[in-house]
Amino acid sequence: MGRPVANRDLVVIGMGYVGLPLAQEATRAGLLVTGLDVSDRVVDGLNAGRSHVDDLGDADVQAMLSAGFEATQDASAIADADTVVICVPTPLTPEGGPDLGPVLSAAAAIAAHLREGQLVILESTTYPGTTSDELRPVLESGGLVAGRDFHLAFSPERIDPGNPVFGMRNTPKVVGGHTEGCTQVAADFYGRFVDTVVTTRGTREAEMAKLLENTYRHINIALVNEMARFCHELDIDLWDVIAAAKSKPFGFQAFYPGPGVGGHCIPIDPNYLSYQVQAKLGYPFRFVELAQEINAGMPAYVVRRVQDLLNEEGKALRGSSVVLLGVTYKPDIADQRESPATPIAMQLMDKGASVSFHDPHVEQWQVGSSVLSRVADLHEAVKEADAVVLLQNHRSYNADDLASIARSFLDTRGVTTHPKAVRL
Ligand SMILES: NC(=O)c1ccc[n+]([C@@H]2O[C@H](COP(=O)([O-])OP(=O)(O)OC[C@H]3O[C@@H](n4cnc5c(N)ncnc54)[C@H](O)[C@@H]3O)[C@@H](O)[C@H]2O)c1
Repeated sequence: MGRPVANRDLVVIGMGYVGLPLAQEATRAGLLVTGLDVSDRVVDGLNAGRSHVDDLGDADVQAMLSAGFEATQDASAIADADTVVICVPTPLTPEGGPDLGPVLSAAAAIAAHLREGQLVILESTTYPGTTSDELRPVLESGGLVAGRDFHLAFSPERIDPGNPVFGMRNTPKVVGGHTEGCTQVAADFYGRFVDTVVTTRGTREAEMAKLLENTYRHINIALVNEMARFCHELDIDLWDVIAAAKSKPFGFQAFYPGPGVGGHCIPIDPNYLSYQVQAKLGYPFRFVELAQEINAGMPAYVVRRVQDLLNEEGKALRGSSVVLLGVTYKPDIADQRESPATPIAMQLMDKGASVSFHDPHVEQWQVGSSVLSRVADLHEAVKEADAVVLLQNHRSYNADDLASIARSFLDTRGVTTHPKAVRL
């Protein structure tokens, strides 16, 4: 099967945290790229040179536009491309399984324009079997056959938003094709702008590799979160323990406790796997369920620790003022998806605390039905509050300075050394 001579090298479907950096790297490598998105806000913003994701600035989008990038809502752009990569969201259904709606609607858009020789790659995180059992039938509905008439592959996205060291180019890319030929064509495609491409036996292995990575992280975070609770009771500084343990040059990787897991991946992706194991095989994936339970319980544990701190001062949580510092799900980015700060604020409010927040990346913060505005003066707010909780240690914070002026300071990240700060 030859490759078509097309006007465009690449159409990326879904211009979010994953799709836009991919489009940027491909554009930088000289590929002519179109970004396809259903949102007119996203498309209009990009075409006007505005970025809506943390890892790219407006100047980056403008550089892409100068190099021929364009954004569109018109799916017919697919017909003009050599390669189509799907980067649409895979949220959870209310039952806890993956909602493949966006993936299948992107697949239907591709099927309507699919041509012989094209390469179609799924990057959205999903359960093993999605590429061959869900995506392929939709793509083949017009009569073209994967592996014979067009190429089909899965390649998990490993982007780490806000990571200054590892980006698209220097993070190895895992690729698994529907056939060996598909794997090769997809590996050649990524090889144009990624330093290292790692191939798997097929699409399922590539899909499972992504879930193994995120489940491994989820479980190890749960391990230290559970240890944090009893180390506190035993008066053992777990951060000191981890610093000692990680001096071992082999067989140990450091994970750190915190107020809970957040973001679009860690709290969600392992569910795809446990859902599939339960649905297909009828038994639970016990590690994931346990990790889920421990990590999901951390916000309530943080609230209890705030209560304990206030108690020592002879204060009740009801009527006390609590300032939360850093409400995004990781440091130095603006993404608040699944951030544990939200359940923490809601539980504090439910118990009658007066909650305010500061975050250099968030001006207005939606907590349930309330919208909170960031405190105007960080130092003043920290000084005035009955309790301060460091949830995310953004680069611009000096946690020890803040702890020194606070009445009570709970550090959920283990970054303070000031004697007034209490670590989780
Ligand atoms: N954000 C991360 O750090 C990260 C990391 C690794 C993997 N992933 C995975 O990558 C996938 C995309 O995540 P994201 O964070 O980029 O999502 P996102 O919400 O930032 O962006 C998705 C974009 O897709 C668009 N979209 C939705 N349905 C569409 C459709 N049918 N056709 C065209 N556009 C459509 C939306 O308008 C949005 O702009 C998910 O499966 C996610 O699990 C995300």
